[in-house]
Amino acid sequence: MDKKDIKYTSIHYQDYLQLDKILNAQALRSEEAQNPAHDEMLFIITHQVYELWFKQIVHELHALIDDFDDGKVDERNIGISVARLDRILKIQGLLIEQIEVMETMTALDFLEFRSYLFPASGFQSIQFREIEILLGLRRAERENYLNAPYDVVFNEEGKKNIKNWESNENLFTLIEDWLERTPFLNWKDFDFINLYKESVNKMFDQEKKAIQETSILSPENKKARIQNLEHSEDYFLQVLSYEKHEEQIQKGTLKLSYKATVAALMINLYREEPILWQPFNLLRKLIEVDQQFTVWRNRHAQMVMRMLGNKMGTGGSSGHKYLKKTADKHHVFRDFYHIATLLVPRQFIPDLPEDLKKSLSFYFTNH
Ligand code: HEM
Repeated sequence: MDKKDIKYTSIHYQDYLQLDKILNAQALRSEEAQNPAHDEMLFIITHQVYELWFKQIVHELHALIDDFDDGKVDERNIGISVARLDRILKIQGLLIEQIEVMETMTALDFLEFRSYLFPASGFQSIQFREIEILLGLRRAERENYLNAPYDVVFNEEGKKNIKNWESNENLFTLIEDWLERTPFLNWKDFDFINLYKESVNKMFDQEKKAIQETSILSPENKKARIQNLEHSEDYFLQVLSYEKHEEQIQKGTLKLSYKATVAALMINLYREEPILWQPFNLLRKLIEVDQQFTVWRNRHAQMVMRMLGNKMGTGGSSGHKYLKKTADKHHVFRDFYHIATLLVPRQFIPDLPEDLKKSLSFYFTNH
């Protein structure tokens, strides 16, 4: 990095933060209509604060995308990427907490000014859409909104921006590419995935045997448990066989490629190896970011239920019902959670060969 001289300049706090603009940006529509509603100030400020935090999240996501965008990730930078995700997580914590501030307004107080903001709605937050797209939410994965494309609510420029963001790189695909480049999935004679499949079979055989041999369960209970176990076994087969995995991707039931899934699995299993610790942390933070958005979506839906009951939204959706569906559906990193399904107890994890273990460690030598 170039080291440049820092020049000292001077500026007043008020001007640096452009407070004249920010603090004069609360135009209460109820006041304009000569019918002032006290809580409209809270409503506007809460939304504005959200939009500012959205802007910071977008800023962090662009930096993350740059970290992973050149086809080669400097391992030294993974810690920085983890720190960026951590910052997003802290902001998300605030976004969730702020709902309580909004909820100090009652449903009746909301009705005092609600008609003045028709047909404005959070659905028209372009920064929220940008965040979803930068994370990797695809058009086809979205819950249907009024039988129209979700960007119908934006002007031509907004629609153009959305198309651009959709065709540019996003965090999901870049992380997938990075995982696919993991170098040690096949290491000399060590063929991780085949050894793992053998271990998984051994584990299922032992579990089935334990169920069959126990005297504590009734025959019906045993039968039901074996059936459940076979479902899990089936899941392993679907995900860990290349062909079946591809079929699931075509159907849209899986999103993360076979190779990336195997790499993510390996990182999770051998996370104690020093080189894998930061990649493991990164995968964990991605799941947390995804989870926090779901928590926000659910929390927002609950607030909407409290404010509107079953009324439709100002944006025209079914309100609470629509929002609950997006909370269930709009996950970006769902397949990363499912790695947990694929984990086996430590005794079944194949041992790494010594030379591979050495390559996965940090070692320092003066020679
Ligand atoms: C009294 C408070 C609020 C109510 C009653 C409310 C209601 C709604 C409703 C009903 C929708 C669904 C679309 C529609 O039909 O309008 C929606 C969407 C949305 N709202 Fe709110 N909202 C409130 C506060 C907030 C706040 C403080 C934010 C922060 C920016 C926000 C952000 C959003 C976003 C981003 C969506 C789109 C969600 C999606 O499509 O997945 N809302 N809101």
